[in-house]
Amino acid sequence: MNALNTTAEALLDDRPSGSDGADQMGHLVTGELDLSHGVALYLDDITVSFDGFRALNKLNLTIDAGELRCIIGPNGAGKTTMMDVITGKTRPDEGSAYFGSTIDLLSMRENAIAQSGIGRKFQKPTVFEHLTVFENLELSLKADRRARSAVFFRLSSEQLDRIAEMLTLIHLHSQAQRTAGLLSHGQKQWLEIGMLLMQDPKLLLLDEPVAGMTDEETERTAELFLSLEGAHSLVVVEHDMKFIGELTTNGPNAAKKKVTVLHEGSVLAEGTLADVQANDKVVEVYLGR
Ligand SMILES: Nc1ncnc2c1ncn2[C@@H]1O[C@H](COP(=O)(O)OP(=O)(O)OP(=O)(O)O)[C@@H](O)[C@H]1O
Ligand SMILES: [Mg+2]
Repeated sequence: MNALNTTAEALLDDRPSGSDGADQMGHLVTGELDLSHGVALYLDDITVSFDGFRALNKLNLTIDAGELRCIIGPNGAGKTTMMDVITGKTRPDEGSAYFGSTIDLLSMRENAIAQSGIGRKFQKPTVFEHLTVFENLELSLKADRRARSAVFFRLSSEQLDRIAEMLTLIHLHSQAQRTAGLLSHGQKQWLEIGMLLMQDPKLLLLDEPVAGMTDEETERTAELFLSLEGAHSLVVVEHDMKFIGELTTNGPNAAKKKVTVLHEGSVLAEGTLADVQANDKVVEVYLGR
């Protein structure tokens, strides 16, 4: 119980972005997310060096609003580092990064970025093992600043509906009262995705979401992501090419859906899955191995 309280307190630390409405550099934290120009994420010439080694090297990437973008590339290409930059975990040496057309990610702290509408799924599921599936979702709802009053009151019928909807979406309706620690690895991954979605992020970053899943769980995950496309922008990093194939050849824009190949910290190729699979450089550094 204490562990829960501590976690809940940490999650509920609801000071406004940057604690006083400004970040540590004194900039006003830009207000509303603006997707009206059709761009959800814009990275321009991002460079990250670790002791002189360039993990990202003038990386450029644009993700459209509502787009589902798959990112592939060999180990060490910089995929996770890119997510670290977007979420404020790592500061680049150079470049710029915008969420929508107004939110300057490089001037914000990690929790302000999360609150602005960017959700991140790490590879390892991080659900609260001792709580039920329902309680896990309830907690994410309460961690939402806009629903803060919920901490002190019972869940509204609207909130109960929202949790029920989420349970259905993540295929865990029949498991609602089960302790999360007893779920399969894949179910824990879904629960964590559900917890992220409870906060209604506009941009979701998913780092190797199907690692360790069974084939059936992987297929269901592809269906789930395809159902989120449009209402959310998704950036999915995976090595599982069958999964990438399912994501890119289904859904409303299947014919035009882009895959980005990262290599040595920059974009090696970008195009449809068929384009990148036919690219000699891509075959050489990644797909042909
Ligand atoms: N904190 C760090 N300090 C030093 N080097 C780092 C750090 N983080 C990442 N790197 C290096 O930066 C490079 C890019 O790593 P990154 O984790 O982004 O690759 P990745 O594309 O996610 O690879 P994988 O497919 O294996 O997950 C690697 O060479 C890694 O060793
Ligand atoms: Mg990685």
